[in-house]
Amino acid sequence: MATEAPALSPYDRIGGREVLRRITDRFYDLMDTDPAYAELRAMHAPDLSPMREALAGFLSGWCGGPRGWFEANPGKCMMSMHKPFPITRQTATQWADCMSRAIADAAPEDTEVADAMAQVLGQMAKGMARD
Ligand code: HEM
Repeated sequence: MATEAPALSPYDRIGGREVLRRITDRFYDLMDTDPAYAELRAMHAPDLSPMREALAGFLSGWCGGPRGWFEANPGKCMMSMHKPFPITRQTATQWADCMSRAIADAAPEDTEVADAMAQVLGQMAKGMARD
């Protein structure tokens, strides 16, 4: 009987830690330098390096890879965690747009999983807006 190879996780398909780190770094570089994201940038602390670690760690576990961020933050929910921030449709759209550009610029080979990731993260970000 032929056995099917197990399906790869989104983490493996996107290119693992290296590509997720590339996406995260590009995301914060764009946020930091492109005036299109000025309002979003202003909501964050001056030093973005802790965010580079945190977002890369979150995305790793979220995509089915190593779960260090989730183990260090037991029970932390991304949607609830963002409730204290005054997120508007404008800043949520900036987040979604910046992430979609970062994913495209990181150029993962598997464009199907890359597009799906940009789509779902964009929907999550827009779901955080409260205006
Ligand atoms: C899918 C959407 C999003 C994801 C996956 C995400 C991810 C994260 C992560 C991992 C952290 C750090 C949490 C920690 O280490 O405790 C964080 C913090 C933060 N996020 Fe998001 N985020 C999203 C959407 C947004 C949106 C739409 C905004 C604003 C428009 C936003 C603004 C912030 C701010 C202001 C912080 C705190 C930053 C700081 O302390 O400097 N996030 N986010």
